[in-house]
Amino acid sequence: MAVTAFARSDPAQEGVVAFNATRHLRQVAELVGATFADELDANGRASLREMQLVGRFSPFLGGLWGTAFFENFVAGYVWVEAGQVLGNVTLQRADFVGIRWRISNVAVAPQHRGRGIAHHLVEATLREIARRGGNWAVLQVRADNLAAHHLYERLGFTDVCRDGVWRLPILPANLPQSEPGVSLHPLRASAWRERLDLAHAARTSLARWADAVNPADYQVGLGRQLGEVLGRMTGFYRVERWGVLGTTYLLGAVETQLNGIADTHLLRFAVRPEARGRFEDALVAQGLRTLAGAPDRPVVVEHDADHAEGVAALETAGFRPQRVLLTMRRLIVPGDVGKT
Ligand SMILES: CC(C)(COP(=O)(O)OP(=O)(O)OC[C@H]1O[C@@H](n2cnc3c(N)ncnc32)[C@H](O)[C@@H]1OP(=O)(O)O)[C@@H](O)C(=O)NCCC(=O)NCCS
Repeated sequence: MAVTAFARSDPAQEGVVAFNATRHLRQVAELVGATFADELDANGRASLREMQLVGRFSPFLGGLWGTAFFENFVAGYVWVEAGQVLGNVTLQRADFVGIRWRISNVAVAPQHRGRGIAHHLVEATLREIARRGGNWAVLQVRADNLAAHHLYERLGFTDVCRDGVWRLPILPANLPQSEPGVSLHPLRASAWRERLDLAHAARTSLARWADAVNPADYQVGLGRQLGEVLGRMTGFYRVERWGVLGTTYLLGAVETQLNGIADTHLLRFAVRPEARGRFEDALVAQGLRTLAGAPDRPVVVEHDADHAEGVAALETAGFRPQRVLLTMRRLIVPGDVGKT
């Protein structure tokens, strides 16, 4: 889970109060840090340290946090009782035009949960999005966080897609054999448009709504091709790409990256919807075979968790889920502005 820093000012009150960095930042940093201690990635921990540092000096930073610039990009609400911040919700623009708004850092102090605090805070946040003319509220929640899922469903959010990270702690001594009947071919680095097209087709339109496929993740220009050749010559960096060819386009593909200085090896694969269930095992197995002889490091895969056959292939090969995040969204309607 990512942690973000933010600001907005409002007169001090009890109950739902607009976040004000000068008054609340230190307590919010403590609450969010304690709540998500186990989930934060390196970026989250760095942001949190920043928040805590800024929080210590926040009485001197009031003017800065109150500027229109920060107000436009980040806001939030806290729940206050007797001067104590007991709950928090952060709101950020998710695009430059302000159509989508991201809700994050939803946290309530453990001894005050179940009192409706989060419900009130998220409701206030939805009103704020409506007031600012936004169309969508978007958030991510761990797929196994049933309490939070229930909270968001009650407030009208619906599921969009699930994305996960799988990890194989160590390459098995006996790498999987090739699958009989599946013909895999090496793919040239320059044939990146076909792989981009496949990645696009493999994601549902809803999943693309949440997170569009980024062409830069697939483009292999001349500079990158040269880097790959040099990496292979020195043995320091090796990228392999294999695919199942259809009559007009790729039906499936796998790519592995072995990087001499990285902590992990990377594998990614995709299968066209009409070919699902036929190639996943073969692609994952081929990916692992390309890593034969690589330094002993975990192999990490980021993949669409709604692709059941892909998830099954990963788990058969020994991968275990590290984290599965569910993206949820809610349409903002004009009536949200006046809701109490
Ligand atoms: C999730 C969390 C924010 C909920 O806060 P809260 O103030 O306890 O929630 P509320 O009291 O407003 O409850 C809202 C709804 O969720 C339900 N709910 C709350 N905790 C629940 C639990 N542990 N199990 C099942 N349902 C739960 C409530 O019954 C209520 O449902 P209802 O509207 O049908 O009555 C809080 O448990 C928390 O801080 N958890 C740790 C951090 C976290 O997971 N944040 C979400 C990250 S996306």
